[in-house]
This record gives sequence, structure tokens and C-alpha cells, in this order.
Amino acid sequence: MTSPLDLAYRNASAFEPGARRHLDRLMANWNLLADLCFSDLLLYVPYRPLGDGPGSGEERLVVIGQVRPTTSQTLFEIDLVGEVVATSELPLVMESLRTGAISVGEQRNDTGEGHLRLECIPVRYSGQILGSLTRVWSPSIARRRGALERVYLELFERFSSMVAEGVFPFPDDELPVEHSPRVGDGVMVVDERGRITFASPNAVSALHRIGIMSAINGSTLSALGLDTTVVQDSFSTRLPVVEEVERRSDVTLLFRCLPLLARGEITGALVLLRDVSDVRRRDRLLLTKDATIREVHHRVKNNLQTISSLLRLQARRIDAPAARTALAEAERRIRAIAVVHEILSREAGDQVPFDEIVHALVKMARESNVGPHDVAVRVEGELGDIPAEMATPLSVVIGELLQNAIEHAFVPRGRDEPAPPARVDLVFRHDAEGYGVTVQDNGVGLPLGFDIESTRSLGLSIVRDLVRTQLNGTITMVDDGGTLVRIDVPVHRAGGAY
Ligand SMILES: Nc1ncnc2c1ncn2[C@@H]1O[C@H](COP(=O)(O)OP(=O)(O)OP(=O)(O)O)[C@@H](O)[C@H]1O
Ligand SMILES: [Mg+2]
Repeated sequence: MTSPLDLAYRNASAFEPGARRHLDRLMANWNLLADLCFSDLLLYVPYRPLGDGPGSGEERLVVIGQVRPTTSQTLFEIDLVGEVVATSELPLVMESLRTGAISVGEQRNDTGEGHLRLECIPVRYSGQILGSLTRVWSPSIARRRGALERVYLELFERFSSMVAEGVFPFPDDELPVEHSPRVGDGVMVVDERGRITFASPNAVSALHRIGIMSAINGSTLSALGLDTTVVQDSFSTRLPVVEEVERRSDVTLLFRCLPLLARGEITGALVLLRDVSDVRRRDRLLLTKDATIREVHHRVKNNLQTISSLLRLQARRIDAPAARTALAEAERRIRAIAVVHEILSREAGDQVPFDEIVHALVKMARESNVGPHDVAVRVEGELGDIPAEMATPLSVVIGELLQNAIEHAFVPRGRDEPAPPARVDLVFRHDAEGYGVTVQDNGVGLPLGFDIESTRSLGLSIVRDLVRTQLNGTITMVDDGGTLVRIDVPVHRAGGAY
């Protein structure tokens, strides 16, 4: 079913392409307006319901947007977006749509809280009226008027006229709004020559914090010692301009300057400012923290490589074959761990792209193949990014299993039994339930009576312990013509770490 909202939008965009974008831009920027007028804002758009039921074809109004002020309390606790209203209920809105002028008046309030005040501003785009931006407030809960309130309301009136003239929202103003300073952060008003005529208490405090103590009113931003051309730039482009200004190395102010226009003339500007020093400092700290973590991983990797070279040197000086093999194995295991740190030293964050590690492990295993057969290793599926603390045990486990397949699966069989081409399949699975790895070879299969639970040999003992204690997973090993090893690590492990 087409909702009134969709219909209304279709209606609006039927005026001219770009009309919907105009309404969207208005709503992306209207926090500012709600804050300046201390009131709720609603955006009404006319539409005609389709079909031939009762009332179809008759014009209605639908609320396509709503925003609450952060500078005052809201009148509407409920969400009104999508609400459909008969045109007869909102004569002021209809009047603004018809005349193209701002209409102000009272409206009876259903909630019984006395009368509400409405100010209905026609939203003009390319000569057409698309809808009515309606400010709703109640005189009974309005803020007491002080100097600040007067200035903000006057600013609101200037923006309202711009909405009615079709120059606000600004064309192509695509600033991500979440970065924009808000009215509560600090407001300054400048005249058409760039002189400050008003600074809100928060703006003054922000300037004090960065050491600007001279008289603000009557001065310009550059005369205050701020190295910025936001005002001039927004005057010359007639568009909002955003700039970050650094004072000393530890203070950063974010400025957003919106030119104020009346009948095509620049009459001044609204400058919003926010002290973003804390945010920037945190950004910088995070950057250095990331760099430090990467550096540590880099050093760990280097140390592991040194250890593995030491073992290699030592193995060369030993004659007993068993001892030599033991040292060679230890060296290989350490290299499997080094691979993880190598990758962690390149990637910031606590997730590791495991597929890169798999690639390195497969390469290592194939290089260690001294048997007569060439072994084809095929990799299927992927784990994607996995938590760093899982990467080290898992890569040792996969390294061991690959090594076993290459070392034990393809020993020569009986004389008249030709061996099929040797292959190992590594299959990865990562879904909602967890991580799965299978290592399958088409070799001779496991020795008679083999049981992973009772094996005392080092390689598989390491595998068994890592899977159970570090990964909190399960392992099975069966003979299915070759050897099939299956590891499952559920996502919600007892420890809950992943
Ligand atoms: N893929 C396989 N195919 C055939 N036999 C296997 C396979 N994997 C393991 N085995 C058997 O299980 C035994 C135990 O393996 P395990 O890895 O624990 O020890 P290992 O490889 O002999 O020595 P290491 O401690 O150096 O790994 C192996 O000696 C081998 O007989
Ligand atoms: Mg082994």
C-alpha cells in the first residue's frame, strides 16, 4: 500500500525534479530553526489520496517531518510524521500555501492546554510552494524573553523569510549535519560587513577558553585574532562555509557560517561555533594508540622471527635426528604465530583478516613438504575478520593439521596400489552459529585404533588443548578414506569473549 507520506512525496516531486531534495535538505538543517524559535516545527505537504473510496481525490495535509527544539520543551511527545489532517482543520497552513506568504495566528488545541500559536511559512522552491513549515508553540510555556531570546527569534524570522523566498535551505548544502555545531554550542551574529553584533554566552565562553578576552561586539573574527575567512567566504559564495580553526596546538574551534539573505542582498551571517578540542585530542590519541599497538605487534613478530632463527641455528649443530626434528617443529610453530603478529602489525584494530593468515600458513606448509608427492592444497570459504585473540590459537591449530596431512597422509602405500593425486581441502565456514574449519586429505587415513582423546603425541595434543581451552570449541577426527578433521567454535562460547 502506498502511504500518505509516499504519495505526498510523489506529489511534491511532481512539481519539479529536485523538489524532494529541497524538502530533504530543509529537514536536514531544521534543528537550527527549531532551536532558534524555541518551538516544535512540522512540515505539512498537501496531497490527494488515490482510489475511489469516500474522500478520495480530496485534498489533505500530511506531516512529512517533525523536529523538536533542544532550547525549549516540546509540545508533542508523540511522533506526528505520517499523520493526515483535513485541510479544514488547518486554515492557517492552507492560507500560507495559497498566498505564498507567512501566516500567523491561533489554533484551538485538542489537548485542552489552551490555544496554540502557529506560524506557517510557505516552503518555496523554483517558484512553487511545496509545503508549509509550521512553527507551533504555546504562549503558556514560552520562555521568558531576554536579550538572547530576542536575537534568536529575530534570526528565526530572517531564516523564515529565506524559506519563503526559496533561498533556504541552501542549494547543494551537503554538510553532514552531525558534525555541525548546534545553537546551544555557541552563536554569533555578524552584520553585512562581518562585524559581530551578538555573541551568545556559550560563544563568549568558548572564545574565553581559547584566550580571547577582548571586546567581542563590534569586532570581526580576524580582529579577534582568529585566523579564519569563514565569513568572507560565505559572503562571496552565498553558501554555508565550515572551517576548523586551530589556536595553539591544543585548541580547535569549529565554525559554521550561514549567510543571511533578504531579497537577494546579503544582510549578515549566523556563525555557529563549537569547541572541538576534546574530540580532536581524542582523535589524535587514538591515532597514536593505534600506531603504538601496531608497533608492538611488529616487535613481537621480529622477536618471534629471531627465536625461530635461533632454533634453526641450533638444530644445525645437533646430530641426533630426533632432536633436530623437534627443533625444526618448534621453529615452524613459532613461525605460525609470527604470521598473526605480522598481520596485526599492518591492521589497526582488534579484528584480523584471517584469510591472509590462511594464505601464509598454506604457503609455509607447502614449503615444508619434503615428501615425494606434490600436495595440492585447496581453500574453500572464508572466515573473514576474526577477533585477534582467536587468531593465534587458530593459526597454530591449522598449521599443525596441514603439517600432519603433508607429513603423514601421503606415505607410500602398498606396491600395487597407485596413490591418487595428493590433495588437502581446507574448508572454512563463518555464520550466525560460529566458526567452522575442516581439514580433509585423501591420504592413507589414520592409524588403526587412533583416538584423538588418547593421543599423547605433541602436535595433536597442542591442537586438542588449544581448541578446547583457548577457543572453547570442539574437535573431531575421523578416517573417511583419508583423514577428516573438523573444528567448531560456537559464537557464544562460555567465556563470551567473541
Ligand atoms: N592427516 C593424517 N593422516 C594420517 N595420519 C595422521 C594424520 N594426522 C595425524 N596422523 C597420525 O597421528 C599421529 C599423531 O600426530 P601428531 O601431530 O600428534 O604427531 P606427529 O605429527 O607425529 O608429531 P609432531 O608432534 O611433530 O606433530 C601421527 O604420527 C600420525 O600417525
Ligand atoms: Mg604433527
